[in-house]
Formats: sequence, C-alpha cells, structure tokens
Amino acid sequence: MMANLPTVLSLRHLFVLSLALNVSLILRMVYDEQGGNNNKKSMEVYNHNILKSRLVIPSTSFANSTRKDHSGVVDRVIKLDHGDPTMYERFWRQMGDRSTIVIPGWASMSYFSDGSSICWFLEPEFAKEVVRLHNVVGNAVTQGRHVVVGTGSSQLILAALYALSSPDALEPITVLSAVPYYSSYPSMVDYQKSGLYKWGGDAESFDKEVPYIELVTSPNNPDGYSRQTVVNRNQGLLIHDLAYYWPQYTPIVSASDYDLTLFTLSKSTGHAGMRIGWALVKDREVAKKMTKFIELNTIGVSKDSQLRAAKVLKTISDSSQDEESFFKYSYKIMEQRWKLLRAVVESGDLFSLPKFTSAFCTFFNQELEPQPAFAWLKCEGDIEDCESFLRGHKILTRGGRAFGDSPKYVRLSLLDTDENFMLLLDRLSTIQH
Ligand SMILES: Cc1ncc(COP(=O)(O)O)c(C=O)c1O
Repeated sequence: MMANLPTVLSLRHLFVLSLALNVSLILRMVYDEQGGNNNKKSMEVYNHNILKSRLVIPSTSFANSTRKDHSGVVDRVIKLDHGDPTMYERFWRQMGDRSTIVIPGWASMSYFSDGSSICWFLEPEFAKEVVRLHNVVGNAVTQGRHVVVGTGSSQLILAALYALSSPDALEPITVLSAVPYYSSYPSMVDYQKSGLYKWGGDAESFDKEVPYIELVTSPNNPDGYSRQTVVNRNQGLLIHDLAYYWPQYTPIVSASDYDLTLFTLSKSTGHAGMRIGWALVKDREVAKKMTKFIELNTIGVSKDSQLRAAKVLKTISDSSQDEESFFKYSYKIMEQRWKLLRAVVESGDLFSLPKFTSAFCTFFNQELEPQPAFAWLKCEGDIEDCESFLRGHKILTRGGRAFGDSPKYVRLSLLDTDENFMLLLDRLSTIQH
C-alpha cells in the first residue's frame, strides 16, 4: 500500500496540497489576528514551506462585510478587475520619512513652474528625477527628449492623440492597437466623438492605406508580452505606452528610444493616487502641442503632486544599490506571486496562463522571466465566459471582450494586497479540486 503512494500522490499533488493548506492557514491567521479589531498593526507571517523567503501579510482593512465560510476562510468578493497597485503600500510605509515631504501653505501658489521649458508647468525637480531614474534603470533614452508631465499617463494619451492628429485632415485619423489591447483605449479615443481621431480597433487586421496612430503597449496590458509595432506603414505615427517597462515586471533589455514614450507613477512606484505620468518626446512641435492640450484641459498639472513624485523617484534612485531597494523588493513580491499562481493553475485543468521566455535584464544583470502586473488567465474546456464563471466564485475580473479578445480570457490584477492575493489563490485552488 505504502509503496504505491508516490504514484497516487505525485510530488506535484503534495506540493499543491501543502500550498492549499498553507494558504488557508495564512488566511485564518490573518483573519483571527484582525477579528474584531481594526488596529493598523503590521503582521509578519513566515511560510517557509512554500515561499522559502519572507511573505508578509499587512493588516490593511478587511471590510465589515467580511465573513468566514464553513472552514473559517474569509468569504467575501475580491475585486481584481482594476490594476490598483495597493501592493506597494507596505514598502512605502517602511520608507517612513525618507519619502515624506512637507509643503508649507505659501508654496506652489503660481500656475507657472519653469518658463524656460516647453512644458511651462513642469516642476524642474520632478523633471530632474525622471531623467535620473531612467538613467539608473536604463529603460529609456532621455537625451534629446522633452519631458511633458501629465495628470496620469491617461491625460498624456489624449494629449498625444491631439498632438499627432491634424485639424486640417479631411477625416479623423484612425487609432489602432493590437488585440488584446488595454481596455481603456477604445473609450478614451471615442468618448468625446472627436473630429480629430477615431478608434479603428485591432492593429493586426488593419488593411487600409490611410494615416493612422498605433498605440504600442510593451509589456502589454493585459497579457504581459513585449511588443513591437505591427502595422509598419510609412503613414503611421506611434505612441509607445511603456507603463510596465520596469524591472519588477519584465527584463530591461535596452533603453527604449522612440519618438513618443509614456510612463506613469501608477505602475512604476505604485502611486496611482498621485495622478502623475510623463512623456518623453523627441519632436519639439509635438511636445508643444501636448503642452497646449494640457493647458486647455487642466491649465497644468498639480505642483504638489509633482513635488511628491520627485521625492518618491529620488528615494528609489538614492537607494537603488541597497539590499532592500524598491526594485529588488517589488521584483521579489512579483516573483513569489507568479510562482504561487502558476503552482495553483498548473495543479488542475480548468485554467491556463501565458508562457514567457526569459531575457537578459541589464538592470539586475541576469537572465530573467517576465512577471507581469496582470495575469491573463484562460478558462479551458467548456467555460465560455470566464468572467461570469469567476464572478460566481466571488472573484471580480475583467473579461476578454473588453480587450477585444475572447470571453474565455480574463485579466486579473496581481498588484493587490497580500490578503486579496492569498484569497485568490485559495479560491482558484478550491475551484480546481
Ligand atoms: C497600459 C496603460 N497605460 C496607461 C494607464 C493609465 O495610467 P495612469 O493614468 O494611472 O497613469 C494604464 C493604467 O492601468 C495602463 O495599464
């Protein structure tokens, strides 16, 4: 009987069993620790069986509606349909005063920041730290580029569309992106029914000989793959959305060197609420037009946010060689999350995940695999609507159709709190067994 055990219970089964038990145990510990007390105290849980390294469960709030199911595991809806980067909060708490600034009541009063820059509302300190961080990370060429700051990269996407389109054109210019594309692009482009540009859908199937703008997202949201342009015609204009081209998500293979590149604080440092993004723009006239768009839109970008952003970027650059530097810390968390998620998904036949190839990362100086901010999960077999299926298990995701793709796919955020991530693993594991 004992001799047959290994064939019945393979190592993988034992691993998954241990994983499921550990996840349940952690969730119970977290819940019990927090039951009936809203204390904002951090709690560290060591789980050597699975992770070998530290996995810390912070005590961010469990909603009042939180219930336990029959096994004592938390039973509430987990919202992973947005890429809200709450995962990073613990790092910034640990940084304490190193990333704090004090803004006196009399400061930042003028509309104007730097009269000598094309982008007249750009805070020089912020611009300096943007250039410095790109040089530290090696993910973008900044020489010969104008920095344009925006209220998130969302505003810069619209500013770029405005700047690249022509008011004299007979037809609105077509805006494309390859499927699966970032789900906000179609509505951002068409929401105001602009006479300057219109959404044209999947770049892969674009066959018209007319001018176009292609949005190239690399690594891509939702599926995490690195991308190049797909249309490649001479009437094409390009916007490179590199929101996720940071070492915690993907190997930095070279410094990006495009005409118009967008970055955002939301996904690089996790400060989505600061609403700061920036564009690196080669052409002076394009930078001017983008600045004009933001002037018409919001007469500039919050100086307070730019100063806070400058401090956060400075903190990262200053400590980039430390043992617990921001990118080492966030890389480790993403690595752990992807290992755990893959183990759960591979333990059954219901789901699958994209496979990635490794590449040499010039920032970490080693061969590494991508570990994207989102999981592009596919429901296998008969499940046609993966989003509804998971909603039935209290996991909110964004379905494939929103990205121009099949409803068999969903996008799951992997940037949420440890509690939500562990709950996700627990639920996926329960669904599969
Ligand atoms: C690819 C991509 N671009 C742009 C954005 C917008 O980011 P924000 O406006 O927060 O800078 C996001 C946010 O999810 C994104 O995923």
